[in-house]
Amino acid sequence: MKVIFDTDPGIDDAMALLYLSKLPEIELLGITTVVGNADIATTTRNALFLRERFHIAAPVIQGAGQTLDGKVKPEPVIVHGHNGLGDIDIPAVDETGLQPGTASQFIIDTLRAHPGEVTIIAVGRMTNLALALRQDKAIAGLTKQVVIMGGAFGYEGRSGNITPAAEANIYGDPVAADEVFTAEWPVVVVGLDVTHDIILTEDYLAALSAEAGENGELLRQMSDHYARFYKDVMGLAGVVGHDLLAVTYALRPDWFETRSGPICVVCDGIAAGQTIQMPAARKGGHPDWANRPPHLICTAVNADAVLRHYRETVAG
Ligand code: BDR
Ligand code: CA
Repeated sequence: MKVIFDTDPGIDDAMALLYLSKLPEIELLGITTVVGNADIATTTRNALFLRERFHIAAPVIQGAGQTLDGKVKPEPVIVHGHNGLGDIDIPAVDETGLQPGTASQFIIDTLRAHPGEVTIIAVGRMTNLALALRQDKAIAGLTKQVVIMGGAFGYEGRSGNITPAAEANIYGDPVAADEVFTAEWPVVVVGLDVTHDIILTEDYLAALSAEAGENGELLRQMSDHYARFYKDVMGLAGVVGHDLLAVTYALRPDWFETRSGPICVVCDGIAAGQTIQMPAARKGGHPDWANRPPHLICTAVNADAVLRHYRETVAG
């Protein structure tokens, strides 16, 4: 499976990238970066660091440092630390892994080079994807699938993390997310409805450290900071592996339950970033939804299978 990984590393982004690097089914074509868990220079530096650590051949391409809603949001230091990776020590990185050009142009060129073959896994703000669509609308018809981590639809009472109404990746650029949902490409949304079932406990992280060598230990170290946030703010014993679950979906959709229907994003006001799907089963419906293509949202997941697969894969 040919994959572009669009990311804002990010501790759970790092978990997802290690997973991608170990999966024999995946041919990673590029890692595109976006502002989010830290500023664009930092997320790009982090992507280069992880690329080197995980022995990934694919290049890093820097993407958007500003979002399409024109708003600057505070960095989530409480979640991912000042350096985006839980404040672990990061050595100087190998800049040769950075390919010149913009992420949106790389996405366009790659989709055009492999029509119908490329899956985009996007686990940050959707800015690069929306910019690519603005530059070349026809890419939607050339994309195999877009799997995003983002959004929340109220399953298991999960409606938001950054606000009570919104998930962070969508809240970070609601305008971009709404444009991504308007486009005629097959989108699958892996939101908080399912990601909050993927809890990496202290014992699980210790097992990763023991079984997955120095990169397992790296994930465990990064997760110390992340775990404090989840314990103190969310009352959870463990960390949530949001972004790795988008990778799992691309490979094992049979481990998920989904619902189809068009999706709108609230772009302003107190509920900015809220994602609302109109179920396809509903007849007729409001034109704001009815005039858009249907996309899938994930409503349930076999979490045991995912956690087992992740552990076996990164230890392999
Ligand atoms: C998402 O927001 C970021 O902080 C994480 O990396 C993940 O992609 C979870 O809401
Ligand atoms: Ca992320």
